[in-house]
Amino acid sequence: MEQNTKKLLTKGLLQSEDLCQYILETSLYPREPEPLKELRHVTAGHPCARFATSPDAGQLMAMLLKLVNAKKTIEVGVFTGYSLLLTALTIPEDGKPENEGSFDFAFVDADKVNYWNYHERLMKLIKVGGLVVYDNTLRAGIVVMPDGLVPEFMKPGKQLTIELNKLLAADPRVQLSHASIGDGITICRRLY
Ligand SMILES: C[S@@+](CC[C@H](N)C(=O)[O-])C[C@H]1O[C@@H](n2cnc3c(N)ncnc32)[C@H](O)[C@@H]1O
Repeated sequence: MEQNTKKLLTKGLLQSEDLCQYILETSLYPREPEPLKELRHVTAGHPCARFATSPDAGQLMAMLLKLVNAKKTIEVGVFTGYSLLLTALTIPEDGKPENEGSFDFAFVDADKVNYWNYHERLMKLIKVGGLVVYDNTLRAGIVVMPDGLVPEFMKPGKQLTIELNKLLAADPRVQLSHASIGDGITICRRLY
């Protein structure tokens, strides 16, 4: 793999790798629960290790789960389960059978081509005031990169992400924050 592509695929949108490392070493690693640390280390040896949700985005997700007191959650796209384990470790143990409009929280990190379909479905499943978080919404920064510099295999993803970001930004059903953490996450709170 070309050096530039490799660089693109390493998680973290910050210009400075040192700053990224500083955040991880100062605020993330010392507080990361042991099972998550272990899973992160095992996943690092996987050929698709870059699929895993970045731990700093995970830490923000845990904060959001606590803030909305999430008990019923959905996750789309599991891989080795870093974000799923993080969710399981964060929410209380009294989950119940689910109905439409009853979920507190959803995390979407799966096939990008279906993100908008998931959004439409989740706008029914999530309760008003609940959160839906989408991962990879800045795609290593390629959303603003001239096509000539974007590796061929990432071009469809670039277009899909740009379209999704436009649709989410225009959706009056949600309050939105597009956060430049990890690979970019978009936090949507259902308004009605
Ligand atoms: C980026 S990874 C998820 C990483 C995960 N958040 C973590 O922290 O380990 C995407 C996952 O979505 C799965 N996936 C792809 N298409 C899917 C679909 N249509 N439905 C459910 N999962 C899907 C892939 O197999 C892969 O495991």
